[in-house]
Amino acid sequence: MNKIIETKEVTIRFGGLVAVDSVNLVQRRGEVLSLIGPNGAGKTTLFNLLTGVYHCTSGNIFFDYKNITNVKAHERTKLGIARTFQNIRLVKSMTVLENVLIAHPECNREGLLGALFGMGRTAGKRRQVVEECLELLDIVGLKEMEAEMATSLPYGKQRLLEIARGLATKPQLLLLDEPGAGMNGIEKEELTNVIHYITEKMKVTVLIIEHDMKFVMGISDRIIVLDHGQKIAEGKPEEIQTNPRVIEAYLGSGEFKDEEEA
Ligand SMILES: Nc1ncnc2c1ncn2[C@@H]1O[C@H](COP(=O)(O)OP(=O)(O)O)[C@@H](O)[C@H]1O
Ligand SMILES: [Mg+2]
Repeated sequence: MNKIIETKEVTIRFGGLVAVDSVNLVQRRGEVLSLIGPNGAGKTTLFNLLTGVYHCTSGNIFFDYKNITNVKAHERTKLGIARTFQNIRLVKSMTVLENVLIAHPECNREGLLGALFGMGRTAGKRRQVVEECLELLDIVGLKEMEAEMATSLPYGKQRLLEIARGLATKPQLLLLDEPGAGMNGIEKEELTNVIHYITEKMKVTVLIIEHDMKFVMGISDRIIVLDHGQKIAEGKPEEIQTNPRVIEAYLGSGEFKDEEEA
């Protein structure tokens, strides 16, 4: 098995709270893996550990068989780990295209003006970077809206823009934190198509946190369930759906929901 990411007994404490508790996770390259669990289960915190926003209290994280436990967040981005945020983080004062450009490694925030208009770079190079970013916008269905202000997009499209930004860093692994939140049914179908394209055509491995069970069951090769920071189950969608511990965790949280009801 070709493992892209692996955690061994990963734990983080916030004061008395063990937000992620001895979690062992393995994701195979190319596999669509979803992380589910009631609110407060530790899903986003685990993403923060994988991306280096937080560092583990104990345990180890391996990316492509390298121990990255002590590697800083921006170095992990360079290694090929990208993510989107549960709370959308776009630059409000920039257009759709500019939001992707500033995520591009050739055109980071500091170098934006230089890279776009400045000296020391050829017009050809600049055109290539812009073309790449437009292609990513095309993949998420936003190419026609490239000149609009990011914040003028409907919420669901802002989430797709976040995915384009993540892809601009040329990741091997893309972590999506509740990509379907606030999307309507049509947008969720678009999202499903985008994720299929990313995994199959771009060969980017995707790890997803999502609440919408119908979406999760449809998209995932495998699912890991967290509750109170602990992994309580893992398996194929059909195994998870009928797992008594999983059902109990959701019932106990009063949160067993379809997105429509939420
Ligand atoms: N920086 C932090 N400081 C203190 N507690 C935190 C911090 N980040 C997350 N937590 C706590 O960790 C638990 C898990 O949170 P989170 O990972 O956001 O859950 P989920 O994404 O599964 O809904 C929650 O109880 C949350 O309040
Ligand atoms: Mg969360």
